[in-house]
Amino acid sequence: MTTYITTPIYYVNAQPHLGHAYTTIVADTYSRFRRLCGDDVRFQTGTDEHGDKIVEAAEREGVAPKEYVDTISGMFSSTWPVLEIEPDNFIRTTDPDHIKVVQKILQDVYDSGDIYFGEYTGLYCQGCERYLTEKELVDGNCPDHQKPPEEIAEKNYFFRMSKYQQQLIDHIHAHPEFITPERYKNEVLAFLSEPLEDLCISRPKSRLTWGIELPFDDKFVTYVWFDALINYLTGIGYPDGDLFEGNWSVAEHVIAKDILKPHAIYWPTMLFSMGLPLYQKLHVHGYWNVDNTKMSKSIGNVVRPKELVAAYGVDTLRYFTLREMSFGLDSSFSSEAIVARQNADLANDLGNLFSRAIAMVQKYRGGVIPAPGSYTDSDSDLRQAAEKMLGRYEEVMGQFNFHLGLQAIWEFVGVVNRYIVTSEPWTLAKDESGKERLDTVLYTILESLRLLTLVLRPVMIGATVKMGQALAMPKDDARISLLAVGRQWGLLEPGTQLQALETLFPRLEKEEKKEQSVKQTKKGKKKKADVTDVADDNLVSFDDFKKLDLRVAEIVAAEPIKKSDRLLKLTVKAPEERTIVAGIAEHYSPEDLIGRQVIIVANLKPAKLMGIESNGMVLAAKDISGEKEILLLTTVSGSVPTGSNVA
Ligand code: MSP
Repeated sequence: MTTYITTPIYYVNAQPHLGHAYTTIVADTYSRFRRLCGDDVRFQTGTDEHGDKIVEAAEREGVAPKEYVDTISGMFSSTWPVLEIEPDNFIRTTDPDHIKVVQKILQDVYDSGDIYFGEYTGLYCQGCERYLTEKELVDGNCPDHQKPPEEIAEKNYFFRMSKYQQQLIDHIHAHPEFITPERYKNEVLAFLSEPLEDLCISRPKSRLTWGIELPFDDKFVTYVWFDALINYLTGIGYPDGDLFEGNWSVAEHVIAKDILKPHAIYWPTMLFSMGLPLYQKLHVHGYWNVDNTKMSKSIGNVVRPKELVAAYGVDTLRYFTLREMSFGLDSSFSSEAIVARQNADLANDLGNLFSRAIAMVQKYRGGVIPAPGSYTDSDSDLRQAAEKMLGRYEEVMGQFNFHLGLQAIWEFVGVVNRYIVTSEPWTLAKDESGKERLDTVLYTILESLRLLTLVLRPVMIGATVKMGQALAMPKDDARISLLAVGRQWGLLEPGTQLQALETLFPRLEKEEKKEQSVKQTKKGKKKKADVTDVADDNLVSFDDFKKLDLRVAEIVAAEPIKKSDRLLKLTVKAPEERTIVAGIAEHYSPEDLIGRQVIIVANLKPAKLMGIESNGMVLAAKDISGEKEILLLTTVSGSVPTGSNVA
């Protein structure tokens, strides 16, 4: 099968931000998913470089339009590799071959009688670069740009859009998946329930010269949307290039809700007029806000993708955006949210699973994949969960429900983590009689890791390369790069030596997150920035510090907590006896702890962890310099009476 997927071509009046990044990440992920399914894929993005807005932006910068568009278009094309986005084609509307195709189409449509000359008076919004209807205004303003449109009367060329209204309505009804999610299809049908006007498709050169000249009247240039939408054809060699037939018949466009009308109404009616089949699918997503506020230059909260990659890493950014936004609905970015996902989903759930599992095979089997013995019910349950995950993944990723695909994957991560806890490989390892069972358990865990590597591949490129390497598989090994092959159970070859696992996701500290949020707010929102500034100097007053009750405590008992491989239940004297639940099980065995003196925070509010009330916290230093994070308990340099204050 073939897949042809496109993003909008972005206006070069602004630099790339999170919104552009999201659409392009979505298209890239979908491309990679379809490749995983064995498709031939063509993925196209690019820049939209004509029109009033661009001229204004160039004037503001004091440079010629061409110089200006080259610079900003370059910013888009150079951002995508940083986000591991790999389009097959980057199209620019100033490319000479695009200009030729637009002029050919204009001439064809004109010759067929669907373009006519007329006079029009209308309400024109500069921001939208289109005329608005009275109905669209909110309190007399354009709802997107909060400005009243200008009333303009001029002679212009018009496209007979109204002629195709019924044909479009019929097409939408006959193809329920033409516009998804459903809410956007309904929006378009509601709009089409009113009479459609013809579309003004020219601008007099007296008003705008930065555009493609009409082939049948050199005093006019074409309207930016008539030029821009055609990029989807130019990019595959319309009319007679080799790529055209095969790709156009399967074309899918991804856009956000802001440009629904041009894509769902102008574009299909243009295609009807050209006598071409319509694109197959229009996938429409919602808007990213930042801290629940609309992203805007004047507020100063515009989030730049390259900065996000520098702060959080590209795998985290891709995962976060796809997981956090329900495709079709709006979502809000915040540094708190991305740090929380990185720490919980990535570092804890997924990263720890990989490092624990590989470490166990290193420890118990010298890093060699064991041959499984006979499978038991718990192994079959896990395999069933894997099957279920794969089925769901395939279904929802194909429908652009990436958040659901990731949810299904993380449910499976949870299943594997629980399988480890209940299979207790560490207990099996103690006894020769557990040998065959341990082999099966380790093999089952490693196969699960392979399946996770396979399904995460479209989302996280760097991390899945590392995962594959640890499993001794190059990235193009079909077992982790082709769904039809890789989804089968039991493809890991016993006897293969595993490789070292590079750290997948470091844990992020909250402090880093605060810095980032100040960066985003620094320009505007004075009040918010001031508040964050105070907290951000990282200093606490002496009075605040004095509130902490730090003491030397002696560990008198320690035991593992069932169902948790991270937590230990400690009984300490400080000097009274108390219980503290500490997340150190991966670093200390209970018997190593008895008799140690440690430093605790004694006046932390009690908290229940795995059903056990913890009264305080044991302090430990974190060493993240190596492949694995190591915790080292703090202590004092000599023996002191238990309960001594630390100040
Ligand atoms: N040039 C036109 C598109 C022509 S396509 C034939 C255009 N350009 S744009 O630069 O304004 O890009 C709009 C698109 O950018 C949206 O449809 C969406 O893909 C992305 N986004 C811009 N801001 C966004 C958010 N705040 N949130 C999510 N995506 C948004 O319109």
